[in-house]
Amino acid sequence: MERTTKFSLDSFYSSEIDNHLQEIPSVDSSALLAAQPLTLQLRQALEYDAFVFWDSSEMSKAVGDANADILIKAARHAPLDPQDPRGNRHRYFGSGFFFPWQEGMPWSVIPPRVDPHSGWAFTSYFQPAEINVDAGGIVRRFHPIPHEIWQLPALRRLVDILFVSTPHALVSRQKPVVFNLHIIHLRSDGVRAAVSVPDHMHQDLEPITYVILLDRSKNAAGGVSHIGKAAAAHAAKNAQDVKDGDIIAKRTLTGKFSGLGFWDARVSHDVSPVYSSDGQPAWRSVLLVDFGNITI
Ligand SMILES: [Fe+2]
Repeated sequence: MERTTKFSLDSFYSSEIDNHLQEIPSVDSSALLAAQPLTLQLRQALEYDAFVFWDSSEMSKAVGDANADILIKAARHAPLDPQDPRGNRHRYFGSGFFFPWQEGMPWSVIPPRVDPHSGWAFTSYFQPAEINVDAGGIVRRFHPIPHEIWQLPALRRLVDILFVSTPHALVSRQKPVVFNLHIIHLRSDGVRAAVSVPDHMHQDLEPITYVILLDRSKNAAGGVSHIGKAAAAHAAKNAQDVKDGDIIAKRTLTGKFSGLGFWDARVSHDVSPVYSSDGQPAWRSVLLVDFGNITI
């Protein structure tokens, strides 16, 4: 039976932040079974090539109509990333963990922290300075993913499908699994480009990362995803500036839930800035998902 979540987008900013460990129950096992040809195809490509691109139609079919539109609208309303001095990168961030051997694999969402001075509830994220010269080496504070988004079946299905697609060599099913979700909305005001960070070929130092397009305005230009040789990450250069032959693949994600995944240690990656083709506001929203194991 289809699970539905009813709420208004207006409630996102006003909704109470749940500061306790939140549990999101149950995998939809029938949806995962139906997605088996896709998950097998993705896993094999990741094992052989270290990266994979997929189209909108196959992932949309696998995710179904499980409140997908609400997830897309939510991304469009994401709050400004407090670390973005240019003011055109918007973001929610959250993390959770689960135990692959547990019935239904319920998620435990890591609760936000609260700043004792301002009262702001935030989630925190760290990247070493050597991989993110733009915003690395500091603990970055982001707006937490609202409770209503965590509850969306479309989000749960997407993440489940990607977890099943992940090579076992990268993420063991015998250990607890931690995952990070970034909902990122790059928005050009029509003049200035919106830039992802780090803005050069790099590696994330997570075992595996997936990029899923949620939304791209028709007048958006740029936002081209690049996969390069791992060595290209050392140069910290934009895709257009690295040596000939160091870029292995590039593609512009255009359809809902089209995406790419990469085995981080074996390749580098980058996305070019998003700008407007007609002087009007233009945007690109993505969901980033990465997985790793918690060592106990
Ligand atoms: Fe990255």
